[in-house]
Amino acid sequence: MKATLSANPFREGLRIERTPSPCTMIIFGATGDLTARKLIPALYNLVLERLLPPGFSVVGFARSGKSNEQFRSELRDSVEKYSRTQPLQKAIWDSFAEGVFYHQADYADPDGYAALSKLLHRIDCERGASSNRLFYMATPPAAYQEIIGQLGATGLAAPGACPTGSAGNRCGEWARVIVEKPFGKDLASAKALNQSLLSVLKEEQVYRIDHYLGKETVQNILVFRFGNGIFEPVWNRRYIDHVQITAGESVGVEGRGGYYDQSGALRDMVQNHILQLLALVAMEPPSSMDANAVRDERVKVFRALRPIGGSQSESFTVRGRYGPGSLSGTRVAGYSEDTGVDHESTTESFVALKLFIDNWRWADVPIYVRTGKRLPKRITEISIQFSCPPLLLFGEAGESMSPNTLTMRIQPDEGISLRFEAKLPGQTTRLRSVNMDFRYSTSFGAQPPEAYERLLLDCMLGDSTLFTRGDEAESAWEFVDGIRCGWDQHPPQDFPNYAAGTWGPESARRLLAEDAREWRRL
Ligand code: BG6
Repeated sequence: MKATLSANPFREGLRIERTPSPCTMIIFGATGDLTARKLIPALYNLVLERLLPPGFSVVGFARSGKSNEQFRSELRDSVEKYSRTQPLQKAIWDSFAEGVFYHQADYADPDGYAALSKLLHRIDCERGASSNRLFYMATPPAAYQEIIGQLGATGLAAPGACPTGSAGNRCGEWARVIVEKPFGKDLASAKALNQSLLSVLKEEQVYRIDHYLGKETVQNILVFRFGNGIFEPVWNRRYIDHVQITAGESVGVEGRGGYYDQSGALRDMVQNHILQLLALVAMEPPSSMDANAVRDERVKVFRALRPIGGSQSESFTVRGRYGPGSLSGTRVAGYSEDTGVDHESTTESFVALKLFIDNWRWADVPIYVRTGKRLPKRITEISIQFSCPPLLLFGEAGESMSPNTLTMRIQPDEGISLRFEAKLPGQTTRLRSVNMDFRYSTSFGAQPPEAYERLLLDCMLGDSTLFTRGDEAESAWEFVDGIRCGWDQHPPQDFPNYAAGTWGPESARRLLAEDAREWRRL
């Protein structure tokens, strides 16, 4: 029997290829790293694929002085360095660059916003764009509230905000704001930020970005689960022994010590990226692919997370910090030697957690997560380990059986594999684990778009499914704050406790060994 369209939640939310309505993107913090490495290369690739609307324009807003020409030439260099498609196509870049402008102003100066309003009006008139606006917060978070307040005071973020005198120019239908991470540093600051955003904007105008949600492989988690009939019936506590999520990075702090040392792995990776991966793996099927239906299900997972607080942090969490070590044969320095790191700080560069989701589907199924810097390799994967068969029929051969494991490789070598037992050819019955493997690169050939491409386009199209809703961000912080609070009562005594180039501290191994389990060897 075929599934009917209405019974298929994916049909309703499918984004048919379409072009957003004309708009201008205003980037606050336009001279920073994010603009150069991610935003402009993503926009350039969207232009290459003809996915941006005619008249699309960019205004870079920042404090340092710069001409339009200088700004355009710097951005061109960054596309040549960071774009996933190379070499740069000059004609395409030149026509895109005609719509790129630089606006120098202080974030706290009302005159700067009045001048921005005039510039936007001029762009609307000259480039035939409407006054739809996408404001992108790419500044340090300390500036967010100031900018939001100014946007509110000038009315720039009100949908349909049409500067006076724009007769003959179509008035915009929307104004949206993308807020970069970190979205606060704890529950209290996330609430305060939500409040200031919502004092100026409606929730539908706010797009809190988590770039992991924009990764192709991450989007495929829901397709894999709910677009197939065979996996969901076993996707629960009756068949799953445990889940492991690893997000390993071989890089260190990479000159971001000033930020990272105030943050640490729990805030930097777990509160957002890892919990979002967990939500997609653990959530119930949504009633449709409508943004709020999906986000309702994600937030329910966060609300069902069993809190880890106070003395429980000893048994359910591990934190670590790397000392000097070696990676791919090269000696690397320890965390505390990185620039911007406070020598007295107790910030962790590694976290491992044992989590439980207290609901009917997941009760008592441990979910082990780990993430860290300066691990042996960059690898992100989710692995579902199934329970062993109830009876071992193959004597000694069966005793060495490995459990069935389904692994979703998020990056690199993107794909999905299922490990199961097979009979080794021969006269006796001997078992061997084999893999059924799907690889994006061989199955689809085409290079997947970068997360920022998908997310910028979705925001222009008004689709917030892959963005974090305010209550999601707060629930995730509430959970993480509990752990932080327990940690603050017991500062680590053994830092650094793992050498760069190893899979974290010995206590991470023990976290699973105590449950007679072990981390996957990656
Ligand atoms: C960022 C973190 O959000 O994600 C970084 O701030 C981290 O510390 C990065 O390196 C990892 O992203 P990706 O896409 O390289 O896995």
